[in-house]
Amino acid sequence: MNNKLEEYILSHIDAEPELLKKIDREAHVKLLQTSMISGHLQGRFLKMLTQMIRPHRVLEIGTFVGYSALCFAEGLDEKSEVHTIEIDDELEDYIRSNFAQSDIGDKIKLHIGDALQIIPGYEDESFDLAFIDADKELYWAYFEATLPKIRKGGYILVDNTLWYGKVIEKVESNDWATKAIVDFNKKLAKDDRVEKVILPIRDGVTMIRKK
Ligand SMILES: C[S@@+](CC[C@H](N)C(=O)[O-])C[C@H]1O[C@@H](n2cnc3c(N)ncnc32)[C@H](O)[C@@H]1O
Repeated sequence: MNNKLEEYILSHIDAEPELLKKIDREAHVKLLQTSMISGHLQGRFLKMLTQMIRPHRVLEIGTFVGYSALCFAEGLDEKSEVHTIEIDDELEDYIRSNFAQSDIGDKIKLHIGDALQIIPGYEDESFDLAFIDADKELYWAYFEATLPKIRKGGYILVDNTLWYGKVIEKVESNDWATKAIVDFNKKLAKDDRVEKVILPIRDGVTMIRKK
């Protein structure tokens, strides 16, 4: 999307909450790879989608600094919660301090570890909504691990499924991330356990509904 159109969109949607602005700004100063953060537009989208779906339990794979987890929490009612999983234990204190600054931070349960080891420990069909946003090369594995944990009629969102537009270009033989996303999109298109739609928001978000 060109910058002017993006500016237009951002000035005509709900403002980014001050805490999320601060988290984003501080991450840009202290950390690398800050383009991983969902950001203003996608964050407002995640909140509104949560309000529409009204999940009791949300599962997130890939916390990073906690930006998207806070957006899900914003959309939840009092009794509902987000379980977010982050593999990088060096981020733990940073994430916990971000959640502690929010008055809805207590709706979020942070788990430090590998999502592929943690997810099998959850009861089947115990989540209403999941967000896959971690290592691109493992997308299909996260999806297969997550699907049994989602109730029938529940949703899985998958981030970055257009991967900077590279999914429609010739893939370099050593570009493992692009290969994995292309492979994920191809397999998902044929998967009749679920309904799916790709939205061209930011870097592409696939919405999946379990039949
Ligand atoms: C794209 S960032 C998440 C951004 C965050 N969801 C947001 O939108 O603000 C991906 C995160 O996934 C984490 N990650 C990678 N592999 C993982 C795994 N197997 N289990 C849990 N987290 C993982 C990375 O360390 C990184 O912090």
